Parts: sequence; C-alpha cells; structure tokens
Amino acid sequence: MINKKIGFIGAGNMAYSLIGGLTSTGVAGENIWVSDPDAEQTAQLAEQFKLNITKNNSELVKAVDVVVLAVKPQQLSAVCQEISEQAQALSPLFISIAAGVLCQDIERWLGSQNGKELALVRCMPNTPALVQSGATALFANAQVSDEQRILAESILRAVGLTLWLEQEEAMHAVTALSGSGPAYIFLVIEALEKAGVQLGLDEKTAHLLALQTAFGASKMALESEDSAEVLRTKVTSPGGTTERAIGILQDGQLEALFLKALQGAQTRSRELAKMLGSENK
Ligand SMILES: NC(=O)c1ccc[n+]([C@@H]2O[C@H](COP(=O)([O-])OP(=O)(O)OC[C@H]3O[C@@H](n4cnc5c(N)ncnc54)[C@H](OP(=O)(O)O)[C@@H]3O)[C@@H](O)[C@H]2O)c1
Repeated sequence: MINKKIGFIGAGNMAYSLIGGLTSTGVAGENIWVSDPDAEQTAQLAEQFKLNITKNNSELVKAVDVVVLAVKPQQLSAVCQEISEQAQALSPLFISIAAGVLCQDIERWLGSQNGKELALVRCMPNTPALVQSGATALFANAQVSDEQRILAESILRAVGLTLWLEQEEAMHAVTALSGSGPAYIFLVIEALEKAGVQLGLDEKTAHLLALQTAFGASKMALESEDSAEVLRTKVTSPGGTTERAIGILQDGQLEALFLKALQGAQTRSRELAKMLGSENK
C-alpha cells in the first residue's frame, strides 16, 4: 500500500480517476493534496475523498513526496516554471501524465538547466483510465530511484494496466497504439453497428451486440494464453461465415491500413512534441 503523500496539480478528469482509484486501494484522503484554480471542483473532491486542497501549486509541492502533473499539455510549462523554485529546493518525484510533452522540456521548465536534475516519470495513459481500465506506458529519467519507480507504477496502476518503456522515443509508438487506440476501437464498433442495421437489425440491438462483442473478445483474449491470431483461427471454421467475412476484410488490406494509420499517428505525435516543447524555450 502507498504510504507517501501524493499531490495533484490540476483537478480535472484524470486527477479525479487517479484519486478514485487510489482511495479505492486504501490510500487515505489525508495523504492526498490537490491544487486547481477552480474552487468548486476542488471543494467537490474534498467532500468526496476527504483530501487536502489548495489553490497554490508551490504550497502543494512543499506538502508532498510525489507531484502528479495533471494539467493540459499547453498548461504544463507555466505550471512547472511557477513551482521550479520549490521543486529545486525539495526534489520530490514528479509524474507527468501530459500527453506528448517530452521529459527534456519538463526538466528544463523545472529549472534543471541552472539547477539540479529532478526525478521524473513521464506517462502516457489512455481514456479508459477514466473507468479504471486504462493502459499506461511509463518512462523514468535517470534520476528516478527503484523505490520511486515502484511508487509511480503503483499510482498509475490505480487506473489500469502499466508497462515500462526503456526508451522515451517509444512513447510516440505508444501514443499511436494505445493513446489514440480507443478511438480506433470506437470506429470499429461504429462500423459494426451500422453494418448490423444495414442487415436489418434495429439500432439498439446492433449497438448492444457490437459493444458486448468487442468487450467479450477483449476479455477472452486477455484471459487466454493464446495469441489473438490463434483465437481468431480457432473461431474461423473452414467454409463458415467467419471465414467469408475475414477473407473480405483481408482482401481490403485491413492490416496494411492499420499500419498506415499508426504510422500517421506516430509522425503526428513527434510533430506535436516538438511544438509543445518549443513553444516555451
Ligand atoms: N483525459 C484522458 O483520458 C487523458 C488520457 C491521456 C492523457 N491525459 C492527460 O492528462 C492530463 C489531464 O487531462 P484531463 O482530461 O484531466 O484535463 P482537464 O480535465 O482539463 O484537467 C486539467 C485541470 O487542470 C486545471 N489547471 C489549469 N491550469 C492550472 C494551474 N496553473 N494550476 C493548477 N491547475 C490548473 C484545469 O483548470 P481549468 O479547467 O480552469 O483550466 C483543469 O481543472 C492532460 O495533460 C492530458 O494530456 C488525459
């Protein structure tokens, strides 16, 4: 169980999910701090989780062992520069969940150029984190200790699966696969629903069947030792209905299309990282 003091700068959707996940695993509200300009939002969190609130980000850094940077990527440079003095003085562990912002930029905004290198874990969660079913990739800079790695992982595990990356560069591929991935699955569900309606089902029936099929197939694959390819082959009887449909999808170059889509997302992720970092040199 986590017994460190955890602070969240930014009390939006992701902070709410992480706090919900952490408290459900037994972390006491008295060990959680939240800072956000929206007083109503923080008051609601305080009431629900009995945690500590402040409007002052520097005060929060003074109070905790871990600072989770949970503001929008465009807000991150201002926040880091605002807290850099306390960060340099106290060296807490920083965890950034901001999509697309590189460690080197966060480190620079926290004052590493003229001061100390700080321990920083950069994460890329995805939207199912909001329902505690996320997939989060983590990357630690050289200053992060083994104990801090365990701590960062335990915090992100509160909203789903966690995996470590050896190279930060791989974050662009993660962004293309799991970061943007929920939207690809929604698109597949959408296509299944529309096709079901074209085939004569009513909308509600097509919607529920498409959703439960996507959920059931994922659950089955997660619980199975077999690869997705083996599972697919097992349910594809020669001469059957599934074989006919899969053949049509393969003739349409589905795999090549996914590769092209992910390459596009990876390239865009690199472009955005460059933009976010260079906006505030
Ligand atoms: N939502 C997801 O599923 C998801 C998935 C992957 C990664 N992420 C990342 O998670 C981060 C947070 O996303 P989110 O969806 O939780 O965003 P969000 O709901 O907009 O939350 C951000 C919060 O930070 C507050 N804030 C703004 N400036 C601040 C400051 N100077 N000090 C303290 N708080 C400040 C915002 O207040 P105002 O609204 O008043 O500006 C807002 O309440 C983002 O960087 C995003 O890239 C999110």
